[in-house]
Amino acid sequence: MLFLYLIMKHLIAPSLLAADFANLQRDSEMLNESEADWFHIDIMDGVFVPNISFGMPVLKAISKHATKPLDVHLMIVDPDRYIEEFAALNSAILTVHFEACTHLHRSLQKIKSCGMKAGVALNPHTPVEVLKDIIQDIDLVCLMSVNPGFGGQSFIERTYDKVKALKDLINDQGAHTKIEIDGGVTDKNAKALLDAGADVLVAGSFVFKSENPKATIHKLKSL
Ligand code: DX5
Ligand code: ZN
Repeated sequence: MLFLYLIMKHLIAPSLLAADFANLQRDSEMLNESEADWFHIDIMDGVFVPNISFGMPVLKAISKHATKPLDVHLMIVDPDRYIEEFAALNSAILTVHFEACTHLHRSLQKIKSCGMKAGVALNPHTPVEVLKDIIQDIDLVCLMSVNPGFGGQSFIERTYDKVKALKDLINDQGAHTKIEIDGGVTDKNAKALLDAGADVLVAGSFVFKSENPKATIHKLKSL
């Protein structure tokens, strides 16, 4: 019974984009001590998205303190250039954007050959059906519930239907792909997202801007 509970429980991946960059060690240690499952790391290049977050040196600094898997979300063009480098920086899951990959299958094979789990992120305007012929090869689909580039935006309601459609696509093919939701996740939408079929919730502002981030993580984990 306990085993069943463990395999079915959803995961929480706080996004360090909303952390205090002058206190990354402190915030990483807070996540280590919390019920968070993964560290969500947002890498932006100012080209694929209209913002620049941070790159390898900052990821390296976080990785020195993190005791949990690093879930790295690349919002960059031509991500193939850096797959080996992200593997060397201890990334456990590497997610590339569908919209940024001309040869998505090749990118996923390369991520896996470097020993990481392979994720694909979809922008809000991209239908889940585009993954029909590749879903078996994907470990994680990250459904963007805001337009990527910034933390603290409002959740796009259409996401619930996308989660359901993606869940059907995964089940129809007997795939084991996990569904992650990224953007505007709060206690107002988290339960409905899990009910729709989500497995992993990313939360940036809701966790780090709250008075007690550990308690907020506990709240999301207990749903
Ligand atoms: C947005 C990023 C998200 C972001 C989420 O481009 O991919 O991971 O940090 O932040 P919140 O939870 O504040 O929307
Ligand atoms: Zn993200």
